[in-house]
Amino acid sequence: MTDLLDQDQRDRAAEDLDSSVFIEAGAGTGKSSTLVDRIIKTIRRAETPVRIDQIAAITFTEKAGTELKHRVRDGLQDARKEYPEDGLIVDAIRNLDAAKVGTIHSFAQSILREHAISAGIPLGFTVADDAVASAQKANRIREAVEVITDSLDESTMAVLSAYRINTGTLREVVAGIDDNFLRLSAAAFSDDRSARFASTQKDVVADLKDYWARAQEACKDTSDKLYVGLAEQLPPLIEVLERGDPTEMGAYLLEKFKGSDVKMPSLGVGGKNGSWDDQTAKEWRAEYQSFASAVSECLFAPGDSALRRALAIAWPHLGQAREDRARRGELEYDDLLTLTRDLLRRDRDVRAYLHDQFRVLLVDEFQDTDPIQWEIIRLITADPGDPSARPLPGRLIVVGDPKQAIYSFRGADVDTYRLAREQFSSDGEDLGEILSLTTNF
Ligand SMILES: Nc1ncnc2c1ncn2[C@@H]1O[C@H](COP(=O)(O)OP(=O)(O)O)[C@@H](O)[C@H]1O
Ligand SMILES: [Mg+2]
Repeated sequence: MTDLLDQDQRDRAAEDLDSSVFIEAGAGTGKSSTLVDRIIKTIRRAETPVRIDQIAAITFTEKAGTELKHRVRDGLQDARKEYPEDGLIVDAIRNLDAAKVGTIHSFAQSILREHAISAGIPLGFTVADDAVASAQKANRIREAVEVITDSLDESTMAVLSAYRINTGTLREVVAGIDDNFLRLSAAAFSDDRSARFASTQKDVVADLKDYWARAQEACKDTSDKLYVGLAEQLPPLIEVLERGDPTEMGAYLLEKFKGSDVKMPSLGVGGKNGSWDDQTAKEWRAEYQSFASAVSECLFAPGDSALRRALAIAWPHLGQAREDRARRGELEYDDLLTLTRDLLRRDRDVRAYLHDQFRVLLVDEFQDTDPIQWEIIRLITADPGDPSARPLPGRLIVVGDPKQAIYSFRGADVDTYRLAREQFSSDGEDLGEILSLTTNF
């Protein structure tokens, strides 16, 4: 085989067994193949071979997990053909079923099975299937919204209703929070934005007043269509913003912005350049439009604050539901990850045990990782006594393509990818090499 341009990077990715490696590359560049190569080299390592059951190879979706299993099996079978005398490969093939190759959820589930008591969950815990989980979820959301409507103060309820945020909307929003529970924290709902909005509000009012004063000065014909439109829309808008009454702002927002934040209240058509000084009628119109996003943000601010107050009430209810599931041992899918993370954080012995058990952790499709999963990975690959959980050299191999991220809730997941990449670099924690594959097959 002729050497590829990036052969050096490929070799280091597969062979630098004493370094941890972060491999970043696009689709079809041989990332998964490199990972399998690395597994074979790890198993055949000259002085210190590693058994297949001491390797964990994980990924995030079921589909990728199944593919990874097949790739590892095929890789081992090819290696057996290449090195028919190598007993280590024969052993690996024989023990492949015991190997932790698959999704991070199945990996976490097997950890919890073995350490249920330490994790504080019943030995025979179950993981709900999709139908049961979605029925439970619907109940939980309904209850959380009931808690909101029962305990939210009347004036906040009135603001929500002015913004037409009804129980249906609340259910949708709370369901979204429940879906993304692992990626959020209570801080997401703390109502600390009012101060910022108050100052934005002042600025916007000042800017609109200034614009309106300049427009009145520059217009030579008050029957001009554009002028008529501005005279109709601007003074009432400025008044609504100055008064700052939440109910009035909500009503105005719904009537004039119709739920979109890209267009100012309509001025109708027309406006002649001859009627205007300083800039053309078109430019005066464009300047009016330029206020759209700032104005709509101000108008929505009271609704936003009220919604945050409502969600801050729902949040602990969702957390409590999680704790109840763990106590009963009736888990949902993502509980597997939170419970594993909590177990590793809390129990030094279990952490040391898993650190010994898994000599090498390889992660495919790393762009789909989230903060909880990354924490689990760090806690297992670091020295068990290290509070900063810094993965040890050679323990961790991640491969990913930031362009392929499948989840994108506020970019949280790709943020984890970037954060981890930063931690690999010498400006970060210097966890290991960052390599990139460029040849596309
Ligand atoms: N070094 C290589 N030489 C030739 N073909 C390769 C090489 N590495 C991978 N391939 C082939 O390229 C394709 C994509 O490889 P894969 O490892 O699945 O890429 P990725 O995980 O980056 O999407 C596969 O069909 C694989 O067999
Ligand atoms: Mg791949």
